[in-house]
Amino acid sequence: MFFGGDYNPEQWPEDVWAQDVELMRRARVTLVTVGVFAWARLEPAPGRHDFGWLDRILDRLADAGIGVALATPTASPPPWFSLAHPEALPVDAAGVRLSHGSRDTYCASAPAYRSAARRIAAALAQRYRDHPALALWHVHNEYGTTCHCDLTAEAFRRWLRHRYGDLDTLNDAWTTAFWSQHYTDWAQVRPPRATQYLPNPTQVLDFRRFTSDELLAAYVEQRDLLRAATPGVPVTTNYVLGDWVPVDHARWAAEVDLVAIDHYPSDAGPAAEEEAAFAADLARGWARGSPGRPDWLLMETAPNLVYTADRMHTKEPGRMARNSLAAVARGSRGAMFFQWRAPRGGAELFHSALVPHAGPDSRVYREAVELGDRLARVAPAAAGVVEARVAVVYDEPSAWALRARGLPSTRLDHLDDARRAHRALWRRGITADVVGGLDDLSGYAVVVLPGHYLMADRQAAALRAFVEAGGQLVVTYLSGVADEHARIRTGGYPGALRDLLGVRVEEFHPLAVDASVKLSDGTTGDLWSETVHATGARVVASYADGVLAGRPAVTRHTVGAGTAWYVSTRLADDAYADLLHAVAADAGVGPVRPDLPPGVEVVTRRTGDRSWLFVLNHTATVCEVAASGVDLLTGAPVDGVVRVPAGGSAVVRTG
Ligand code: GLA
Repeated sequence: MFFGGDYNPEQWPEDVWAQDVELMRRARVTLVTVGVFAWARLEPAPGRHDFGWLDRILDRLADAGIGVALATPTASPPPWFSLAHPEALPVDAAGVRLSHGSRDTYCASAPAYRSAARRIAAALAQRYRDHPALALWHVHNEYGTTCHCDLTAEAFRRWLRHRYGDLDTLNDAWTTAFWSQHYTDWAQVRPPRATQYLPNPTQVLDFRRFTSDELLAAYVEQRDLLRAATPGVPVTTNYVLGDWVPVDHARWAAEVDLVAIDHYPSDAGPAAEEEAAFAADLARGWARGSPGRPDWLLMETAPNLVYTADRMHTKEPGRMARNSLAAVARGSRGAMFFQWRAPRGGAELFHSALVPHAGPDSRVYREAVELGDRLARVAPAAAGVVEARVAVVYDEPSAWALRARGLPSTRLDHLDDARRAHRALWRRGITADVVGGLDDLSGYAVVVLPGHYLMADRQAAALRAFVEAGGQLVVTYLSGVADEHARIRTGGYPGALRDLLGVRVEEFHPLAVDASVKLSDGTTGDLWSETVHATGARVVASYADGVLAGRPAVTRHTVGAGTAWYVSTRLADDAYADLLHAVAADAGVGPVRPDLPPGVEVVTRRTGDRSWLFVLNHTATVCEVAASGVDLLTGAPVDGVVRVPAGGSAVVRTG
């Protein structure tokens, strides 16, 4: 079980290190990420390395039995680098070349950056290949930087040539006949830089895909040289989710030995638990495509603070441990934090830490010590696998495409739709994977496809095969409407899925912010509605008011041995939960425990005849859940019912 976090000894005089290592030992820290932003310390001048300090701290950590996720520092090139290679600084869409002075000031397409990154990674690999502390390679930090410079433009064109072969095919895919954008020479093709009015949506989409592949290539070349030096040491990079991140993480999964995510909830209240469960299940879904499957790792989260738009919130006592156990419940190899010790200065001087500004005589450090103890106790459960027979699909290119300007509503959000589907299942205690693609639906009885806007023919075929073989598929509005080039499939929405769903949608009726529609079964929807014709499907609920009154709203269509449901509006949370619960029940899938009180999260990890029941009580009152066995956290026997205090957790070995 990994427990620890980002550790930045370079920010502290060496006399603090001894205390750090002692405090880590007391907290049973097992892994620290070292060197993430230490390039300027490691290479103070071009080609001149200073590894002495890193040798000393790695030796200390090794002596204390603490493993190191050794980072390559390539997310933050030193100032000397950008002065020597100004062409390697990133350029924004408006053509402004950014300066060093923050982090991520690099262009991934700049040869000088790429070779400097390879050199420092190779030097680290060479020096530490046999170091006893080396447990994991942590390449870079949160890949996600975008650049629009001329070097990027050249790389983008190379990528496009490879994707489309010739300009005619590109012109067709990008619909350049619209607004006279027809290209007659590759040199005319550019990244989507600032322009007069709406940009070409396919150009924007392809630029994101390109950026994802370009960053992946930068990762892979570092990974390959690390692997060559240390074949036995896994290599990873920490994923981050965000509107600004042009990374298709599902595609990256095959290239990382262990999927690792950073997760910072955007809500300080109970919604954060649902958000964290979503992130965990998404990581587990991505991990299906990675060599490390089924494990994944929560690489960073905040021990204490949650950031919302206006301020920092302090986590209440006990929440750090409960959230950590919730991640482990959902398959994480442990719980890692940003960061070990709070810095005295720098841009993130108030970000929380396991050793806060107050020092070890603090609630947070005491909770860290407790958490280390708890993680050690639950370590046997790491052998268990989280079983999920329901998949929610989250497709990053669809999310990008739905963020284009000029769509029928500015509130379309595939990530939010995927979260809603997941939340509906979470609230009913049904464990779901969130998967990043349709290539591998094996093992699932139910698949939920929320707003999967882009759909290639092979993806539609995969869904058909899933349903024909007996799967239950729930599709919501705007799925399958466009092809992979974001071109509408004509003849009626939802294009690629019309036949499978047995519906034909003639018109969209996006709803105003405060509007909702009633359905014939008493439920309501908001955001979206449409003129649906049932062309084979059975109508389950109709619109009950407004211009669509009497027309189908929710339908089901039997195809082969399975059923394809269509939901043409955004159902209210309870109605959505009821629907998914009923569909899952039809497929023989139920909650881990029935009738859980709201806010009580229960997940099982299982292997062979052994199983562990994780109970996370996010409520303010004690809860009781049926279980028998031994609570690993307390060592106490559990006979029929486990009582979990308000805000507490239990991990019952039930088999
Ligand atoms: C990210 C980064 C860290 C740090 C934290 C702050 O996840 O990886 O370096 O900036 O956010 O919350």
